[in-house]
Amino acid sequence: MDDAIIKQMLENANWAPTHKLTEPWRFVVFTGDGLRKLGEFQGTCYKKVTEADGTFKEERHQNLINKPMESSHIISIGMKRDEKKSVPEWEELAAVFCAVQNMYLTATAYGIGCYISTGGVTNFEEAKEFFGLGPDDKLCGFLNVGVLKDGLALSGKRKPIEEKVKWVS
Ligand SMILES: Cc1cc2nc3c(=O)[nH]c(=O)nc-3n(C[C@H](O)[C@H](O)[C@H](O)COP(=O)(O)O)c2cc1C
Repeated sequence: MDDAIIKQMLENANWAPTHKLTEPWRFVVFTGDGLRKLGEFQGTCYKKVTEADGTFKEERHQNLINKPMESSHIISIGMKRDEKKSVPEWEELAAVFCAVQNMYLTATAYGIGCYISTGGVTNFEEAKEFFGLGPDDKLCGFLNVGVLKDGLALSGKRKPIEEKVKWVS
């Protein structure tokens, strides 16, 4: 897939709302051989952390190494904590995911497949540095982007909005 669409997604991400203009979103785009490098890092990081805590599973390990190659681009989603901590952390995370949704909507407008994943190395402290993040920052997950199999979009499933809304008039 053309990098131009990814650049458009990133540009739109940059216009997300941001309290006190802290602009906390940070992204690393993996594509081409970068996807192999991401897989290699994920495998090594997962092995190190899980062998130490006794939860290592070889199938999961292989999945983390090989799965990235199924996407055209993978964008790591990071939150850079403002040095002055001028807004609560949850507001920074909210801003980051507004940026992610702008990317999601842009991809959808171009008929491109996307999904957010928060598994793998997302919650490992040891993974942050690889994605350019420091101890106060957060790795929030990954946006996996690719051409849909057979060009078909999967149909979505949600409970009715009426179950989640109360009107006051
Ligand atoms: C914060 C967040 C984390 C998510 N993590 C995962 C994940 O780890 N794995 C996954 O398959 N889907 C994950 N999803 C859900 C998908 O991105 C997607 O929204 C869901 O599968 C429903 O598909 P649809 O939005 O295309 O209808 C996550 C969504 C959000 C908002």
